[in-house]
Amino acid sequence: MNRRSVLTAAVAAAMTPFSSRLLLAQQSKDGKPTTEKLAPYYPTPELVVERMLKLAGLKAGETMFDLGSGDGRIVITAANKWKANAIGVEFDKDLWQQSSDRIKKMGLESRAKIIHGDILKQDYSSADVLTVYLLPLSNDKVRPILDRQLKKGTRIVAHDFEFSDWTPIKTEDIDDDGEGRSHRLYLYQR
Ligand SMILES: C[S@@+](CC[C@H](N)C(=O)[O-])C[C@H]1O[C@@H](n2cnc3c(N)ncnc32)[C@H](O)[C@@H]1O
Repeated sequence: MNRRSVLTAAVAAAMTPFSSRLLLAQQSKDGKPTTEKLAPYYPTPELVVERMLKLAGLKAGETMFDLGSGDGRIVITAANKWKANAIGVEFDKDLWQQSSDRIKKMGLESRAKIIHGDILKQDYSSADVLTVYLLPLSNDKVRPILDRQLKKGTRIVAHDFEFSDWTPIKTEDIDDDGEGRSHRLYLYQR
């Protein structure tokens, strides 16, 4: 195992126990299905955000979605710097509120918004670009939805965890994100 694989495995290990615990915590008392946590909050470093959007070839006016948008950093950078129409999907109320407040404070409401909802229940058919930082098993759950919905030509950038069954058209390694962590990005095109 090289250094990057070790670090990626460590991130997955760090994310998985959290996710299992939270999955248990999500069983509602009345037995109704609740939103499935596809990954805990683990933000993409800003330098990697820039590289993801660059790798996607995001253009002004294009529509992009970040699946599980956390504090909104990818959506905000896409709208602010790339002038894209950027949409995040986030089910955690605090993160949704925090990112929505930041969008408002930055005056980006015309180009950026965060949907307070479930990644697995959205319509991505308008997407030109998607960014994804979820666990491998979660990518397996999202993939059939994307296979059904995405228009031809949509670019998808996955951070650290690839989509099985899809072949990337490009991969990019970032050896140091400034905090000593390495990352791998996967670019796919439908
Ligand atoms: C690893 S973090 C990535 C955050 C952000 N995309 C980034 O790269 O900085 C995954 C995010 O997905 C959110 N999430 C997990 N499952 C979700 C679901 N079913 N619907 C919406 N958001 C979800 C988590 O709350 C978390 O903020």
